[in-house]
Amino acid sequence: MPLTHTRDLFAKALKGKYALGAFNVNNMELIQAIVEACEEEKAPLMLQISKGARQYANPVYLKKLIEAAVSLSNIPIAVHLDHGDTFDLCKQCIDEGFTSVMIDASHEPFDKNVEITKRVVEYAHKHNCSVESELGHLVGAQFDEGEEGGAHSSSGHYTDPAEAVKFVKETGCDSLAVAIGNSHGAYKFKGTQHLDLERLKLIKKALMDAGMGDYPLVLHGASSVPQDLVALVNKYGGTMPDAQGVPEADIEVARRTGCTKVNIDTDLRLAMTAAIRKVFAENPKEFDPRKYLGPARTAVKELVRHKVRDVLCCAGHAFD
Ligand code: G3H
Ligand code: 13P
Ligand code: ZN
Repeated sequence: MPLTHTRDLFAKALKGKYALGAFNVNNMELIQAIVEACEEEKAPLMLQISKGARQYANPVYLKKLIEAAVSLSNIPIAVHLDHGDTFDLCKQCIDEGFTSVMIDASHEPFDKNVEITKRVVEYAHKHNCSVESELGHLVGAQFDEGEEGGAHSSSGHYTDPAEAVKFVKETGCDSLAVAIGNSHGAYKFKGTQHLDLERLKLIKKALMDAGMGDYPLVLHGASSVPQDLVALVNKYGGTMPDAQGVPEADIEVARRTGCTKVNIDTDLRLAMTAAIRKVFAENPKEFDPRKYLGPARTAVKELVRHKVRDVLCCAGHAFD
């Protein structure tokens, strides 16, 4: 089966009220684990590649690995550029046949973000590619508490619903990544902090009221940083004190509120690292990479199975 267009996966996800898992990949084991889990769970899938992943693995290797995965599986798979930071990088990926790209100019002032995004949208749409853009800053809820420039200060880092409408109208982007207290990595929250899910509802409603229908939103930084994995990492020689992610219950609400694409990378890294650390701790004499990359691949597969089945609810929807 060739690649499936991101647009088609989004349309079905919106209709079916489930979220697509967008999993970051940069090597063979990750791709195999994710695709196998989704194949077994009959889940539609987005594989995403960051600039760093392209630099690490080489774009040609990644393209060929994904081609192999696609040819060996039956499920619909889309390929997406994660956090494209320039027009040129987006163009390269569009020219290579990615089904969608993200242009992330969210650090720029609103008008500049619009200008850069518009340029990518124009090129992408001419070449049958969808575009995700981002408005607001993923600084995370830890930053909010009474700090200058936090979400609830006048400068505001969270996505503003009215601005979201203006941004989507002016740029023509196909999906929008929102900032609602989400952040990347393994240290997202302290204590009982949560995503600002009320704001998410307001953004969705504002877009709907402005005539944009059930407009797809994207949640970055959606790893839940499972505490059993953190405990394994720490038990087997790692040091990850106070690692904390987005509660799965928040992801569930985000999914029901209309986050159509949910980005997960950190949890994959944790699953791999915990498994590898365990092998090394228990078998210090081991030096065959297959003996630790194999368990790492299995750990990622089970993690992805859980995500698509229990959190994103896209399992069983591959052939809708
Ligand atoms: O959002 C960032 C993703 O986790 C990719 O991370 O830039 O280290 O590949 P990376
Ligand atoms: P996590 O760091 O929470 O996995 O987020 C990944 C992401 O947003 C990739 O774009
Ligand atoms: Zn991200």
